[in-house]
Amino acid sequence: MADIKKILENMTIREKIGQLSQYDANLFIDTDAAVTGHIEWLGLSDGDLSCVGHVLNFKSPAEMRQIQREHLEKDRNKIPMLFMMDVIHGFRTIYPIPLAMGCSFDPDMVKECSRMTAKEAVRGGVQVTFTPMVDYVRDARWGRVMESTGEDAYLNSVMGAAQVRAFQGDDLSDKENIASCVKHFAAYGGAEAGRDYNTVELSEHTLREHYLPAYKACLDAGAEMIMPSFNTLNGIPSTANSWLMKTILKDEWGFNGIVISDYSAVKELMDHGVAEDGKAAARLAFDNNCDIEMCSAMYFNHLEGLIEEGVFTLEQLDKAVLKVLDLKNRLGMFDDPYRGADKTDIELTPENRDIARRAAENCAVLLKNDGVLPFKKSVTKIAVIGPFADNHNIIGFWSCNGKNEESVTVAEGIKRLLPGAEVTVVRGCGDEWDDTDTSGFDKAVNAAKAADAVVLCLGEPQDYSGEGNSRLELELHKIQLELARAVIDANTNTAVVTFSGRPIVLTELEKAAPAILNMWFPGTEGGTAAANLLFGVANPSGKLSMTFPRATGQCPIYYNHTNIIKYGKSGAHKPYCASYIEHDNLPLYSFGHGLSYSEFVYEGLELSKDSMKADESIEISITVRNASDIAGKETVMLYMCDPVASNARPVQQLIGFKKIYFEPNERKTIKFTVTEPMLRFWNNNNEFVSEPGEFRLSTGYADHLILTKEFVLK
Ligand code: BGC
Repeated sequence: MADIKKILENMTIREKIGQLSQYDANLFIDTDAAVTGHIEWLGLSDGDLSCVGHVLNFKSPAEMRQIQREHLEKDRNKIPMLFMMDVIHGFRTIYPIPLAMGCSFDPDMVKECSRMTAKEAVRGGVQVTFTPMVDYVRDARWGRVMESTGEDAYLNSVMGAAQVRAFQGDDLSDKENIASCVKHFAAYGGAEAGRDYNTVELSEHTLREHYLPAYKACLDAGAEMIMPSFNTLNGIPSTANSWLMKTILKDEWGFNGIVISDYSAVKELMDHGVAEDGKAAARLAFDNNCDIEMCSAMYFNHLEGLIEEGVFTLEQLDKAVLKVLDLKNRLGMFDDPYRGADKTDIELTPENRDIARRAAENCAVLLKNDGVLPFKKSVTKIAVIGPFADNHNIIGFWSCNGKNEESVTVAEGIKRLLPGAEVTVVRGCGDEWDDTDTSGFDKAVNAAKAADAVVLCLGEPQDYSGEGNSRLELELHKIQLELARAVIDANTNTAVVTFSGRPIVLTELEKAAPAILNMWFPGTEGGTAAANLLFGVANPSGKLSMTFPRATGQCPIYYNHTNIIKYGKSGAHKPYCASYIEHDNLPLYSFGHGLSYSEFVYEGLELSKDSMKADESIEISITVRNASDIAGKETVMLYMCDPVASNARPVQQLIGFKKIYFEPNERKTIKFTVTEPMLRFWNNNNEFVSEPGEFRLSTGYADHLILTKEFVLK
């Protein structure tokens, strides 16, 4: 451990500002004119670079070691840099995208994947991950829904906290742990019209009830850092939003960890039009507790002047620097500035591949099954058709050191599982939204006709989701729908496997397809998992953590909406009814939907009593039976509704879930406890309260609630 106070005493103001600055790795390793130009454009000198505190976007552990070594040779204070990365869904071994992980409803599995990733990331030279991203999402047009666990605050909180605990462990000095930075605070997922970086306008009660809880849960779980979001929230960019950064984060939640801006977000305060120049931008960000500036150089260029002018004090600067040095110290950077980074790239291992495979099986959602699935392993002729039949680009947008070419495709997975079978692979058509080439259709149809079973692999390319990738239309591309119709006409023993980074519109496909298995972007072992699920080696158990709309125009669409008066629930459009002309209001697949090869029968929901006082609790018992000969997992969910309150309340709200394994024909009783804080909402006096009266508890899933029982809160 270093004496960081002593180090601080010896530092110049500029060196201190260096500790509050982070830049891309290429600034430190490339020497070509473009990079030199970039340094000049940032207004930085070589001297500044030698005291920078943090790096992102480095490519390999070797690069990390080189940058650190050269830095330590130059830095007068010998303060190691921190290397941060977007380790979002795996580092070397890529597991399913976070939206898929949400569908697992399995925090233990999330933990296992995050532990594996932390260990790999340490060896890859990472000490801080910009994870978890817990932005609450309701609009599938937004490409970054793939990074979120979905549209439920409670689920997001559980999953986010599980990741933080798994990444950080109990002791940051342990070289199997990394620090976690929760993001993007706040409400980045509320972007208008699902367009990335767009304006967010939200009422305080919606923010408090849906958008904020998961960030808070991650901080309560001990996240060391937080990143404000790019967007404006009710007119003010988060990095300059004193209500968010001071009132909520600091005063209410008591967060004393490190705040790091998003990429160039301090400079972007000028683009937002809330800072007239760089100095104003630096002033706004630093005043709102932003400790580290990522990628722009407003701090380097203006913070010293602002201190000289007395806008900020040296004590304020020192406080921020001490936080940074303290984190470096606790991570053990002063003792080992390479902190377990390998000398060469790390390799995939069978053990980690196995974790990724199990995760992909656990996250896949069986959306429809008329009975064709599982296919019999005894089939001898299989046609694997479609743009994702033999496509390695299924690992998802944020894949660090993962490599597409090392992922297992669906066709490869099936061939490995059934080495004796004759597997024909036909692409059929492309996956781009504007593809029109149908020349591969005949071959696809012929292969389908000749096969005993057809696996039709459709979806959107993996670079259609993730940062900056918003979509206007979520419908499965027309050419793929045409291919699907032709193939299913040729052979009805067809299962469709879908790949996407968001809910896509499958309304027309659903009419034609006997079965649909949604894999999301499943990661390195995606094809192995798909094969296992299709042929019954694994049993699907994922449940949607985000609603699938019937049409793009329904977005934003989510399960936990308030009572809509004159709600045209189904059927044709009715005048003076909250309905659409073309479709009913219900989604195609609701939050919580997901089939299994087992048959789970919900036999009863019992309450330990029918009323409770605020300091009491009620035990809920839900009895579920696996009425099949197939072992499987079921996520038992508990929903709450407060039918009459001073604010209109959601028609359904998830307050508990447990994913349970059932042997064939096994019956289990699953217990939940309901306490008063679970019944609270943000009222008109700006407080979280519960109101006495009747509450309803149900199980099942959104829009399909069953076994409802009431109790009274006295
Ligand atoms: C993204 C963040 C990410 C950062 C660093 C930004 O553009 O919004 O999520 O952590 O880049 O890569």
